[in-house]
Amino acid sequence: MAAIELRNVKKSFGVVNVIKGVDLEVKKGEFMVFVGPSGCGKSTLLRLISGLEDITSGEMLFDGKVVNALTPSKRGIAMVFQSYALYPHMTVYENMAFGLKLEKGHSKEAIRQRVEKAADMLQIRQYLDRLPKQLSGGQRQRVAIGRAITRDPKVFLFDEPLSNLDAALRVATRIEIAKLHEEMNDVTMIYVTHDQVEAMTLADRICVLRDGLVEQVGTPMELYERPDSIFVAGFIGSPKMNFVAGEKASAFSCSTVGIRGEHMDIKPDGIWEGKVIHTENLGADSYVYLDMGQEEPVVVRHDGTTNYQSGSLVRVSPQEDRIHRFNEAGKPIR
Ligand SMILES: Nc1ncnc2c1ncn2[C@@H]1O[C@H](COP(=O)(O)OP(=O)(O)OP(=O)(O)O)[C@@H](O)[C@H]1O
Ligand SMILES: [Mg+2]
Repeated sequence: MAAIELRNVKKSFGVVNVIKGVDLEVKKGEFMVFVGPSGCGKSTLLRLISGLEDITSGEMLFDGKVVNALTPSKRGIAMVFQSYALYPHMTVYENMAFGLKLEKGHSKEAIRQRVEKAADMLQIRQYLDRLPKQLSGGQRQRVAIGRAITRDPKVFLFDEPLSNLDAALRVATRIEIAKLHEEMNDVTMIYVTHDQVEAMTLADRICVLRDGLVEQVGTPMELYERPDSIFVAGFIGSPKMNFVAGEKASAFSCSTVGIRGEHMDIKPDGIWEGKVIHTENLGADSYVYLDMGQEEPVVVRHDGTTNYQSGSLVRVSPQEDRIHRFNEAGKPIR
């Protein structure tokens, strides 16, 4: 049985339809990631699942039971937002214990045990006596996650929890969240992010949302290798998939050829010609931006460093077994 099931869920704010009929099953213990362009409805969908917003029509089920009318506190979920408001005058310990104290019925000792267990998991035990202002951003973020964990929820909802951390802290906290999911048996997580790496590495399955509807749901590699639409093809992966249309695509009997930068080779007998616009050397690899007369520059990903001169002409070939062909409706031709 699905931990969470949405049946034709719709949400409008006044006359504005934001969620337009979403059907989705999230399995027990699954890590589901929501991605999609800004404004497509990711946060709204999380808030509907949490109960912070009422759904306009449709059904929301937890463990097979309709929860449409249940308040957030009755749903057994914990939510971690992008802006994690900790209580500034309370210590880390008090912040983490606060929700449990409110619930009543927990002994002081039981609360202490749960806070310490969560603190150990997140490696913040040594900060329990500090105030939030005495912590780094990443440590504060972990306190916010810890505060959610102590309540022992069955479902975690995360809305871009790492987006205001620096790159190194993002990576460290991302790994903490992955470990947390491994360690907490049967805990279901739904996680919204704009970060390709977070989506690809954390998700059991990714749900791509577009304009209030589900565009495709699948494992990261399913979406990467077998996108159901040109939209998903262009949305999953970084740098984004190149699209080549016109005559060059006709040669492959389609309207548009999709080819990722890592699946193109610069070589003297390449089938396409491109003019180097710019090269970015990232260390382990580099991106060569080519003008091929397309709407957008074509990006070739190259191992190691390169020094193609801007303005020079190069020849490239797509690896034929890696080509995605799309018809005029943006659907894959397989
Ligand atoms: N309370 C509200 N009243 C009216 N419109 C709203 C309300 N909340 C959200 N919206 C609208 O619903 C749409 C979806 O918003 P939502 O916050 O869910 O997007 P999102 O996918 O989370 O975007 P982002 O990636 O920018 O966070 C937006 O067009 C937004 O303006
Ligand atoms: Mg949002």
